[in-house]
Amino acid sequence: MSDQSPVAIARPTSSVAELNHADPTRAARFDIAGPCGLAANFSRQRYDDAAVDQLFALAASCNFGAALQRQMGGEIVNPTEQRAALHTALRGQPVHTKVADAAFAQAQQARVQMRALYEQLAGSDVTDIVSIGIGGSDLGPRLAVDALAAEQADRRFRVHFVSNVDGAAMGRLLPTLDPARTAILLISKTFTTQETLLNGEIACAWLQAPERTFAITTNASGAAERFGIASERVLPMWDWVGGRYSMWSAVGLPVLLAIGPDGFDQLLEGAAAMDKHALESEPRSNLTYWHALTAVYNRGVLGLCSHAVLPYDERLKLFPPYLQQLVMESLGKSAQLDGSPVVGQTVPVWWGGAGTDSQHSFFQALHQGTQVESMDLIGVLKPAHNYATNHLALLSNLLAQSEAFANGQASTDLHRNYAGNRPNTVIRLPSLTPGTLGALIALYEHSVYLQSVVWNINPFDQFGVELGKRLANGMLPALRGETESSDPVTAYLVSSIRNV
Ligand code: F6P
Repeated sequence: MSDQSPVAIARPTSSVAELNHADPTRAARFDIAGPCGLAANFSRQRYDDAAVDQLFALAASCNFGAALQRQMGGEIVNPTEQRAALHTALRGQPVHTKVADAAFAQAQQARVQMRALYEQLAGSDVTDIVSIGIGGSDLGPRLAVDALAAEQADRRFRVHFVSNVDGAAMGRLLPTLDPARTAILLISKTFTTQETLLNGEIACAWLQAPERTFAITTNASGAAERFGIASERVLPMWDWVGGRYSMWSAVGLPVLLAIGPDGFDQLLEGAAAMDKHALESEPRSNLTYWHALTAVYNRGVLGLCSHAVLPYDERLKLFPPYLQQLVMESLGKSAQLDGSPVVGQTVPVWWGGAGTDSQHSFFQALHQGTQVESMDLIGVLKPAHNYATNHLALLSNLLAQSEAFANGQASTDLHRNYAGNRPNTVIRLPSLTPGTLGALIALYEHSVYLQSVVWNINPFDQFGVELGKRLANGMLPALRGETESSDPVTAYLVSSIRNV
């Protein structure tokens, strides 16, 4: 924990509009370039130069560089589970240590297995893949397939995702498929997740073809085989990869099947480029440092309790839900590494929606609500379609909203007054490719990790999800009438449900 703290940083005295109008160089000075042509403009954040100096002093006293070295080198950065967090070794070798290099070698081997499975299925009658998983075993692959597959010229497989335990999800999908042309992937790091196992049972009973059923898990020796998936059809996952950081591993197999092995390689190369940028770039030219420190400033100095991610690209509409798990499951903690309570606030609520749809739903509150949110607006400069006017309109709306949030527009009529001073960052991608998507996602992964370093919390465990799961396991026999719930309200609700 550093002796510097976000709370010590001065609150701004000028508005965003005043800061930018007083200094025409700020827009360019706060525009930070990253790998794969990514860039982010932080000039519409509320910090002035003095606060930025304090933020980078905080980064220095927290020693961001050493923290990244520790994580990428395979040190135990997940102390409560005594694990490394080596998602970076799945896509490259940013730091050479015995542990990290061994992890990289295992990941390479798994990539060979994934390619071989692609070739095997491509040589068969299979046209549809059903990917069953939840959380980190679903959100990342689902985002990448939704973002990249539709525009893929030589697409070989259609990939369908089922995550919710609600049978409606499977019930809607299976009738649309031909079992003779379908393969099933059961993706679960632990292979103990109720939703995935229950949905897996339904899908396997429907498919009746074990030779076209595969699993991705760390639990090969036990649960997957007991489930009836022979070890030769199980691809590895490892406990040194967090679920919400796992799309770069065999958990990403649905992505590889949807965009092809070369496309998957490019996704990983983009992320690896961001790893190198995070590790090697000077602090003031380091996109991951700026993004993390901006989040710490908005939460720790301004006390903002919600952050909206607004991708102005239809293909990135699943990015906000993906980030909700990555950011909130990582940073939603109240205990420091030594078990003492955290100082100040940790993660705000992350949410969002695609532009321009969101402009016609929750933007009213973003502009004129009493609560101020911080925002990331994400634009893709070159589209994959030929509707040029639509694309110009999309970008013009992004720019207009960023300006309106920052500068507002005063009116004596409060109904028509725009207070502005809504801090926002504009992130730009030259185009949406596997490489730029990989780099974008890795940017947020590193930002999350660096925020955890400032707050001195463990971003790689998630004990908070266990109580609900345990209680749910106890509810099943209660709903079947086999047991009584000890909680009076639950007992009442169970009986009202059972008596319907
Ligand atoms: O319940 C939360 C969680 O444990 C996530 O961290 C994880 O990504 C998800 O469930 C799925 O877990 P698994 O991959 O083990 O099925």
